[in-house]
Amino acid sequence: MEELKALGLYRHTRMVSGPQGPRVLLDGKPVLLLCSNNYLGLADHPRVRQAAADAALRWGVGAGASRLVSGTMTLHRRLEERLAAFKGQEAALLFGSGYLANLGVIGALARAGDVVFSDELNHASIIDGCRLSRAEVFVYDHCDVEHLEWGIRQAQGRGALIVTDSVFSMDGDVAPLGSIVELAQRHGIRMLVDEAHGTGSIGPGGRGAVAEAGLEDEVDVIMGTLGKALGSYGAFIACDRRMAHYLVNAARTFVYSTAPAPPAVAGALAALELLAERPRRVGKLIRNAAVLRAELAREGFDLRGSRTQIVPLVLGGAELASAVCEEALRRGVFAQAIRPPTVPERGSRLRLAAMASHTETELVGAARVLGQAARAAGFDPRMTPASAGSGLLATSSRFDSRARLAPATEDRPARPPAPATEDPPATVFDFEAAERVAEAA
Ligand SMILES: Cc1ncc(COP(=O)(O)O)c(C=O)c1O
Repeated sequence: MEELKALGLYRHTRMVSGPQGPRVLLDGKPVLLLCSNNYLGLADHPRVRQAAADAALRWGVGAGASRLVSGTMTLHRRLEERLAAFKGQEAALLFGSGYLANLGVIGALARAGDVVFSDELNHASIIDGCRLSRAEVFVYDHCDVEHLEWGIRQAQGRGALIVTDSVFSMDGDVAPLGSIVELAQRHGIRMLVDEAHGTGSIGPGGRGAVAEAGLEDEVDVIMGTLGKALGSYGAFIACDRRMAHYLVNAARTFVYSTAPAPPAVAGALAALELLAERPRRVGKLIRNAAVLRAELAREGFDLRGSRTQIVPLVLGGAELASAVCEEALRRGVFAQAIRPPTVPERGSRLRLAAMASHTETELVGAARVLGQAARAAGFDPRMTPASAGSGLLATSSRFDSRARLAPATEDRPARPPAPATEDPPATVFDFEAAERVAEAA
């Protein structure tokens, strides 16, 4: 722990009072929440809360056991049918969380002797799923289809699975799904797409990036979470019936883990209903995200190809990212600093997340505050060094497969801290002004 502290990598949780709304009390202080995955504002929606409460009264709080032991509750089946229809698939299967879903699916579709091809910026749950599967892992450069194809050729027919986030969780860019599908089909390799951050936020009616690209019939397994845009907790995979039956038998995190709790399942059902009734909510999220990106670009930040609600402010050093986070907090904006091993070495950042429940005024104000916070911490967004945050790409020998077999971001050594400054905040986020403008609108 002392070492982590010395390296600026020590983590602690902050105390939030109340639900994950656009504003929260953080450690007792009112702040604008700009880092929650409650993208559509459904986690605190009255109908979602009510549905969860009703389900607790009717079906109880816990599911009792794994479904293979104590049975599928009617509520599980209902949500799976809705999710399958939502994703344009024959079947869906619930998991306890997205982390568990990725572990279970990858372990079921790849084993020792196989090769899994994984984007270098895939989520930690994919990295861990690959490790547990005991397959060899070829980590291809971020979104680099040419590198992926080279890796497939090196694997000489041992390729079992290509896995990619659709919307990358720390960068907000979108995988080139069409090209990856084309490769997967040409080489007869299965494909798993993690739509944790695409579900509810992009594509027609929030159906995700696979639907946006018209690839519902081409991808073998789509993973989506219930804990982000859908405002609840848990996850699902959507696929054809045969694959779902196989995963019931082979995905260890399905077989050996208690089924999702009725209130969480009912909450997600209500969220899906709300999404179907008012798809405009997704449009609002998309507009808000565009406002946030445009305003941050005006401040001079390089947004690294984000085209979604996830917007990275890549700062480089872990200490610097923590300092900017604290400066922003002092001005009333909460955007958590994300440091290695979650992101690559030299890629520490504030990872911002717009929500449909933010007002445009709040987002414009937040962008100003973040520019000030960066400058107060000694970082001028207009002077971003070209290499900040791209350590992986800069140092990798692109086509050296041995260099690529280790999972990318999770085992990287830590780096020395960068200096922080103690300047008092120049301005503080004006909640009341934002509120007045929102009310007038
Ligand atoms: C891309 C991605 N996949 C999977 C997960 C895990 O999902 P869950 O939080 O439901 O475990 C996350 C969580 O942040 C994620 O960002």
